[in-house]
Amino acid sequence: MVNCVYIHIPFCEKKCHYCSFCSFPLLSYKEKYLNALVKEIKHHYKNETLNTLYIGGGTPSLLNNNEIEKILNCFNYNSNCEITIETNPNSLSLNKIIEYKNLGINRISIGVQSFDDNILKSIGRLHTKKDIYNVIEWLNKADFENYNIDLIYGLPNQSIINWEKTLDEAIMINPKHISTYGLKIEEGTYFNKNKPNNLPDENMQAEMYAILINKLKNYVHYEFSNFAQSEEYYSKHNLAYWKRNFYYGFGLSASGFIENKRYTNTFNLKEYLNNPINKTYEILSKQNEIEEEFFLGLRIKEGINFNYINKKYKINISEKYRPLFEKFISQGLMKKTKNGVKLTTKGILVSNEILCEFIDI
Ligand SMILES: C[S@@+](CC[C@H](N)C(=O)[O-])C[C@H]1O[C@@H](n2cnc3c(N)ncnc32)[C@H](O)[C@@H]1O
Ligand code: SF4
Repeated sequence: MVNCVYIHIPFCEKKCHYCSFCSFPLLSYKEKYLNALVKEIKHHYKNETLNTLYIGGGTPSLLNNNEIEKILNCFNYNSNCEITIETNPNSLSLNKIIEYKNLGINRISIGVQSFDDNILKSIGRLHTKKDIYNVIEWLNKADFENYNIDLIYGLPNQSIINWEKTLDEAIMINPKHISTYGLKIEEGTYFNKNKPNNLPDENMQAEMYAILINKLKNYVHYEFSNFAQSEEYYSKHNLAYWKRNFYYGFGLSASGFIENKRYTNTFNLKEYLNNPINKTYEILSKQNEIEEEFFLGLRIKEGINFNYINKKYKINISEKYRPLFEKFISQGLMKKTKNGVKLTTKGILVSNEILCEFIDI
């Protein structure tokens, strides 16, 4: 049963210097795009009731309320369905937030990135610190408490002190949820062609991550990069990804996961507008699926559940991976849980190295 949906809105006012997401400043295509999107949804969606809907991008807050309503009207919802919209501080207003609430959107994710105007400018963001505080004021006025802020560390010219200040400001604002990202210089981005000066190296990024974990100790660190004030505010949609629940992905570049298949839509706008129904499927082998259980399961606080995996794939994973589990537990990188294992904080800091050892053995 598929109960989660991701919708991709590929429009932005301007491309940020670090961003490789499928998005571009072609707002004149909005109407055609939404028509194609609705066509795609009508073709693939089987009227299941949704537990989560995530409208991401790009910048979905560039859509007007009628356009958002057109998307929302395509689905059936459970009474407690989490409906999230991704927004940029400079494309929000008090009215928009009130309208979102009226439309049933109950979670807003805001691309704050940093509280330092010089850094924001140097990474190509269109908003300032003042814009961020305006949005927070509007959210409070509209009594909209379930919001997330995105922050990036490892940005050019970002010192440790600067990162600590950004975290202190974030904590002062007191959002229910904070998502964090270590900067990656991705292919095809402005930063990939124009390497920025004063880029924190890998070690400094690791130090920033350690500071983050330490500073946000009053939040539940429920996933590698995600922090919430309590379980009530975990991102249900993202948890569904990490727990390998099935989901539909609709829109340009969106991907979905149903049974043992992952699919991706085209990244080419013309192609999508001409044929929004088409998808490229990848069939996952049993080994692929088990590896995914590790990669995704070890990201979350509960870790992986042996009984669940054993039953699902008819294997005995504690037996199969015994030497690895024993090694990581003895090194203090993993910890036994009631039903399986999880990473310790020390393990999270070297998670890439740990996860690599589980591939194809
Ligand atoms: C889908 S993006 C866009 C959301 C929204 N348009 C915005 O910019 O705020 C979600 C988040 O990914 C993060 N992100 C995007 N590109 C990144 C990169 N190259 N390195 C690290 N974080 C990145 C940013 O924090 C961004 O808010
Ligand atoms: S980071 Fe957000 S606003 Fe910037 S280009 Fe990417 S999707 Fe658009």
